[in-house]
Amino acid sequence: MSKIYGEGENKVTALDNVSFSIEKGEFVLIVGSSGSGKSTLLNMIGLLDHPTIGKVFIDGTDTTNLTDDKISSFRNKKLGFIFQFSNLLTDLTVLENVLLPREIAGTINSAEKNARELLKAVGLSDQMNKRANKISGGQAQRAAIARGLINNPAIVLADEPTGNLDSVTSAKIVDLMKTMAKNLNQTFIVVTHDRQHFGDVDRVITIKDGKAFEGNASSEMEVLV
Ligand SMILES: Nc1ncnc2c1ncn2[C@@H]1O[C@H](COP(=O)(O)OP(=O)(O)O)[C@@H](O)[C@H]1O
Ligand SMILES: [Mg+2]
Repeated sequence: MSKIYGEGENKVTALDNVSFSIEKGEFVLIVGSSGSGKSTLLNMIGLLDHPTIGKVFIDGTDTTNLTDDKISSFRNKKLGFIFQFSNLLTDLTVLENVLLPREIAGTINSAEKNARELLKAVGLSDQMNKRANKISGGQAQRAAIARGLINNPAIVLADEPTGNLDSVTSAKIVDLMKTMAKNLNQTFIVVTHDRQHFGDVDRVITIKDGKAFEGNASSEMEVLV
């Protein structure tokens, strides 16, 4: 796919003929410098925006011609999101925040047991009834991970999930995401400008000037077109 923002003098080719596929269960890092096109790529995969040219297939579905309504429900069912800031709703408890995607999906009834299990898995059993503004940044990001997983999504998408955390906390969050990915055979696509933090992962894709390359050693990168 390609993504072009603006027109004429303001035209920016944020993604330039990028093509790759990711297998179920893969933990994939998207790396690259600021402005290279990482968030644009993640927004296309997350169906938050449309490519100018090309298609996004998720779990066997060509998402190109889905209506806006269909996209919303598809996104809610198939995708989990983790952002740089946890984006928890501060009026709700931690548990209620984790349950929110199920509330939206209309499947809240069967969800609470699952939410409690996820909160236990991310180490927040004793925090789940606190309001979301009463926990630390690291705890909030743990809650966001649980929320991202509650719908059993095909893919979890994370944009700079450790970007707002100190290095000790961010190391713990990285470990947690990798552990959850492995235990659940959960596909993760994680954007970061901090490749070192993540250690061993299944796959690294580097974005440079809107082009995608396999791997992270610039001399040996194979362009993905
Ligand atoms: N909504 C937008 N409108 C116009 N240009 C944009 C928009 N979003 C991103 N860009 C431009 O696209 C390029 C890639 O941006 P982005 O995907 O945010 O990069 P990254 O996440 O790697 O920092 C940049 O040149 C940026 O300025
Ligand atoms: Mg970005």
